[in-house]
Amino acid sequence: MGNEEYAWIHIVALLCFCDSSASQLSYSVSEEANKGTVVGNIVKDLHLDVQYLETRALRIVSSYSKKYFDVNLRTGNLFVDERIDREEICANTPQCSLRIQAVLSNPMNVHRIEVSVIDLNDNSPEFIEQSHSLNISESMSPGERFLLPIAVDADIGSNSVKTYKLSHNEYFSLDVQSGGEHGVSAELLLQKALDREKQQVLKLILTAVDGGNPARSGTLQIHVNVTDANDNTPVFNKSLYKIRVRENIAHGTVIIKLNATDLDEGMNSKIMYSFIKRGNTDPSNMFDLNSGTGEITVKGTLDYEETSAYEVRVQATDQGIYPRSAHAKLLIEIIDVNDNAPEISVTSLMTPVKEDAELGTIVALVTVSDTDGGNNGVTNCKVVGSAPFKLKSNYKNEYSLVVNGPLDRENTSLYNVTITATDEGSPPLSSIRVITVEVSDVNDNAPRFMEPVINVYVKENSAIGSVISTINAFDPDLDNNAKLTYRLLENYPKNIPVSSVVNINSETGDIVSLQSFNYEELKTFHGGTPESVA
Ligand SMILES: *[C@@H]1O[C@H](CO)[C@@H](O)[C@H](O)[C@H]1NC(C)=O
Repeated sequence: MGNEEYAWIHIVALLCFCDSSASQLSYSVSEEANKGTVVGNIVKDLHLDVQYLETRALRIVSSYSKKYFDVNLRTGNLFVDERIDREEICANTPQCSLRIQAVLSNPMNVHRIEVSVIDLNDNSPEFIEQSHSLNISESMSPGERFLLPIAVDADIGSNSVKTYKLSHNEYFSLDVQSGGEHGVSAELLLQKALDREKQQVLKLILTAVDGGNPARSGTLQIHVNVTDANDNTPVFNKSLYKIRVRENIAHGTVIIKLNATDLDEGMNSKIMYSFIKRGNTDPSNMFDLNSGTGEITVKGTLDYEETSAYEVRVQATDQGIYPRSAHAKLLIEIIDVNDNAPEISVTSLMTPVKEDAELGTIVALVTVSDTDGGNNGVTNCKVVGSAPFKLKSNYKNEYSLVVNGPLDRENTSLYNVTITATDEGSPPLSSIRVITVEVSDVNDNAPRFMEPVINVYVKENSAIGSVISTINAFDPDLDNNAKLTYRLLENYPKNIPVSSVVNINSETGDIVSLQSFNYEELKTFHGGTPESVA
């Protein structure tokens, strides 16, 4: 009860003492009744005579600031004069009545009138807040409960909140309890575990319904934010990554980007990549894995000859408090690259070679090497062009360059023998080497006179010692093999020794007369051959 009420009782008590004939009337009226609504007839109920109402100055008084009621002096009807709002008058009190007095003068009489105000269901249940947020982890088990805000309804009794309802959903039911301090309340009851990865926010509507007829209701938006639990393992987008990498790939080249995803969020989905060391093979010697991006780069020098393939295990781990990991296999196949041309080296050169060298005579030793592997390193070597030489294989990549045809220095004294070596790579690489072979002279040519017979005409009586002719012979050989000396063959034409008639300069071939020729004595004579000095 409010203080106002105590005060009122006090006043009435005083009035009662002054006039013992005062009596009490009771009426009831529905709140919100229209102005003019008749509550009761005072005159009748007090057994007064309508005729005297004016002379006795009947009036209604009260301690309220509002004049809720008035009386019709002609009929004696007490009627509603101003809007009556039960909730305004008796905010939280279930029983609600207005106390007024009907006052008469001459003689003075005061009659207490109590008008109970009947509640109408004119208020809907209301929630203080418009929406309510709840954070619920997806790791919560069914059976967990979550308290919800209550609705208030200014009406009383059956017109106040009677129950709650929850919008249809697959995760929660509503547990409504009554009889608590605040009347009816409700809790969310988890029926089925939430799954953030399926639905991150659930929007529910809580409806509070009162017991009026018709019932009124109020709603509250409920936002359930499903918080993440690390309940998902990362997943690689392939279980086996296969790549082929050329052996000459530059250091730092990205060869593949791993990609794993995790359905969780935040740190629970942040993925770090790493190599898994197995046995004593450590992939990080050759490759670098960026733990954040998953990019794998080449770190070492790949060599097909040394390792033609790598099998690497990789791992993706999320950064949850209880991390989860996935792993995958990575096959890196190394492709041999034909990046080296064969190399031809001449290990020894036996030149010059004599022009009379036999077929098969070794002129040079040649070695071919190719640092590539496989077919890229298999070489074939041959002489190109028409030189009288060929290559003879000795062992694997070792060859002899041998004479393969007749040589003739007088014809060709120097050969540029071109050798090519080609590997079986695709595309093939080749190289060329020119070996210069000198042919040395052999005295295989006799000197030759230009003409078989040289006729010299000498005037008779020519001076003694004059050059009457010069003999010229030729030898195609070289140096000493071609160096000629001349001499006369001793003979005796007409019994005169030739040497007594002419002399020959052994070096120049000049023939000098040793006497005056007498035509009559010696018409002709002949003789002499040059000879070469080896
Ligand atoms: C896997 O992820 C990588 C890197 O994002 C991408 O290049 C590749 O296409 C993906 N593979 C598949 C099968 O989705």
